Amino acid sequence: MGKKIYFLLGTILCIALFMSVGILKATDVPDEICIKSDAFKAYKKGAVKLTHKKHTVDYKIACAECHHVYKDGKNVFKEEDPVQKCSECHDPVQSKGKVKKLMLAYHKNCQGCHKGLEKAGKPTGPTKKCNDCHAKKK
Ligand code: HEC
Ligand code: HEC
Ligand code: HEC
Ligand code: HEC
Repeated sequence: MGKKIYFLLGTILCIALFMSVGILKATDVPDEICIKSDAFKAYKKGAVKLTHKKHTVDYKIACAECHHVYKDGKNVFKEEDPVQKCSECHDPVQSKGKVKKLMLAYHKNCQGCHKGLEKAGKPTGPTKKCNDCHAKKK
């Protein structure tokens, strides 16, 4: 009797986990995420906080500004697509052609946009100061 219930609960949990992996949506992402990629071996700076929800909802940044899947040189990422970690394609050690190494990918994406907005005189995020993004390393 007891065993059966555990088996049932286990099955339900597995289905729930499978579903949450299969269809990760923006609403499943925590409002704030802590970017701290395990891919970096020598970890020089502290983790970076990204207000994921604010960026998408308040600042109205499209998903495809940060997430991409390239097909024939075009970014075909759609909101409902599964999301891979940046480190799955961007190597932590070296750039491979247009696929810049992981640190540059993050900096180009985050600071790139912020700098562009600064130039246009619009409200923006950190552009230079390391510690405006990086937490103090512990
Ligand atoms: C706009 C935000 C932003 C700013 C400003 C910024 N970074 Fe980063 N940086 C990131 C993000 C995001 C990552 C990826 C963090 C991770 O995965 O741990 C990163 C990763 C790194 C890494 C590789 C991971 C590590 O800790 O070794 C280094 C080194 C780094 N940044 C140095 C700097 C330095 C130096 C400055 C200032 C001149 C700076 N960053 C400014 C966002 C920023
Ligand atoms: C300002 C940049 C930015 C925007 C805009 C953005 N994201 Fe993200 N998102 C990230 C970063 C960075 C991560 C962490 C990925 C990493 O570091 O490997 C992430 C993580 C995720 C994850 C979690 C992946 C996991 O491994 O758990 C999902 C799902 C996701 N984003 C979906 C979306 C969707 C859908 C939208 C649009 C509604 C969106 N994001 C908009 C930058 C952004
Ligand atoms: C599925 C693999 C893949 C994933 C995951 C991925 N990238 Fe990329 N990224 C690429 C490829 C391929 C290119 C080169 C595209 C081209 O041909 O210009 C690229 C290019 C870039 C560029 C340069 C774009 C430009 O305007 O020059 C930046 C910045 C970047 N990626 C940041 C990120 C960030 C940040 C993440 C995680 C949120 C991420 N990438 C996740 C494959 C990936
Ligand atoms: C396509 C544009 C764009 C990209 C990409 C982007 N940001 Fe921003 N970011 C903004 C805008 C716009 C604001 C501020 C708007 C305002 O204050 O009204 C902002 C504000 C911020 C702030 C200060 C306010 C807050 O919400 O915390 C931080 C920190 C920040 N961004 C970090 C990041 C990091 C880290 C990344 C990369 C993972 C990133 N941003 C990528 C557009 C962008």
